[in-house]
Amino acid sequence: MDKILDIANRHDLIVIEDACQAHGATYKEKRVGSIGNAAAFSFYPAKNLGAYGDGGMVVTNDFQIYKRIQKLRDYGQEKKYHHVEIGYNRRLDTLQAAILNVKLPLLDRWNEARRVNAALYGKLLNHPKIGLPQVINDVEPVWHLFVVQVDQREKLRNYLSEVGISTGIHYPIPIHLQPAYQHLGYQKGSFPITEQAAERIISLPMYAELSADMVSYVVEKTIGFLSE
Ligand SMILES: Cc1ncc(COP(=O)(O)O)c(C=O)c1O
Repeated sequence: MDKILDIANRHDLIVIEDACQAHGATYKEKRVGSIGNAAAFSFYPAKNLGAYGDGGMVVTNDFQIYKRIQKLRDYGQEKKYHHVEIGYNRRLDTLQAAILNVKLPLLDRWNEARRVNAALYGKLLNHPKIGLPQVINDVEPVWHLFVVQVDQREKLRNYLSEVGISTGIHYPIPIHLQPAYQHLGYQKGSFPITEQAAERIISLPMYAELSADMVSYVVEKTIGFLSE
């Protein structure tokens, strides 16, 4: 973030943090979401702090951004029935807000449970064919996902599915290869590292309630398959 903020300062840019997978994570002991000019959090049900349906939040310390977001989420209204710009209907549903209010105090505990699971995966998943996620300096992640890299990703996925282990791919198609962004002119080969990662990544089970036995089972099956 320091490097990004430095570039932004030099070029007079604002920084919007995508903190949608990072509720509670810290950078240099500061919570993410409080570092840039504004940040977005997703409360999609599978997130570390998830609602029972869709939801999200923008946070900012900038009064002007706060006023603008307030308008944009409410049909561009400055006051009721006075539309000063074209906006959206993006108010957080009251029922989801109530559910999130109950869940929020538990977030730190759930994140800690994810950290314990990530540490166990890191310790046990010791195999030359597995690329483990690396935590960079000054960062305390919250392990929304536990993504490893392997060459035979599809074969491993199928095998794990056969032995009762669900996995995911986050995400299989890089943005520059999505039809929606074809107009930007990028093609296969434009971002080779991203493209290679998209073919090798696999998200192993990760959530607060995952037990040490379950982690060990995933590790045993994964290493067993890669050792064949
Ligand atoms: C990093 C990241 N940003 C943004 C989003 C979008 O969040 P939502 O589905 O709540 O709009 C997601 C959701 O998967 C995400 O993982």
